[in-house]
Amino acid sequence: MDTATRAYRDGDLGQVVALWNAAGIARPWNDPAKDIAFARRDSHAIVLVAETGRRIVATAMVGEDGHRGWVYYVAVDPQHRDRGLGRLIMDAAERWLVARGVWKMQLLVREENVAVRDFYEHLGYRDTRTICLQKLIGDAAG
Ligand SMILES: CC(C)(COP(=O)(O)OP(=O)(O)OC[C@H]1O[C@@H](n2cnc3c(N)ncnc32)[C@H](O)[C@@H]1OP(=O)(O)O)[C@@H](O)C(=O)NCCC(=O)NCCS
Repeated sequence: MDTATRAYRDGDLGQVVALWNAAGIARPWNDPAKDIAFARRDSHAIVLVAETGRRIVATAMVGEDGHRGWVYYVAVDPQHRDRGLGRLIMDAAERWLVARGVWKMQLLVREENVAVRDFYEHLGYRDTRTICLQKLIGDAAG
């Protein structure tokens, strides 16, 4: 069955959350519905899905911040791995950014996620030897 990429649509939430749970990228401190709604609020970001038949088998959230392109929530359904879907969704994310004039794409990998690091390196991504610092701000700071 053919697989095609498309933008996330209303009604995809259940399948996407199930995929993120199965892929092990859901985190208790991140609210998937909130993250998706925020990414979809304007044209700076998009949630992409790959669909085989009517089943969502891969995702990527991609956006640009006025300087760099970023990708988050890259995941392939564990039952559909090693068939090129990871490359397919990353290609779709890169094309979305290139179409907007972005020339550098970046992503964050948890230190312990060695397997995915090898995947990204295989696709041409290189360690920039930087660290990521984060702080909750505004209402989220509590
Ligand atoms: C990483 C992940 C997206 C890969 O998806 P996938 O569909 O199995 O990958 P593909 O089949 O598209 O592989 C594309 C290429 O990468 C290679 N590859 C895949 N996983 C790899 C790995 N762990 N290490 C090295 N190379 C890898 C494949 O051999 C393939 O090479 P080729 O195209 O030159 O033949 C998937 O394993 C996954 O969802 N992991 C868990 C979620 C996760 O950790 N996401 C990242 C959060 S930062």
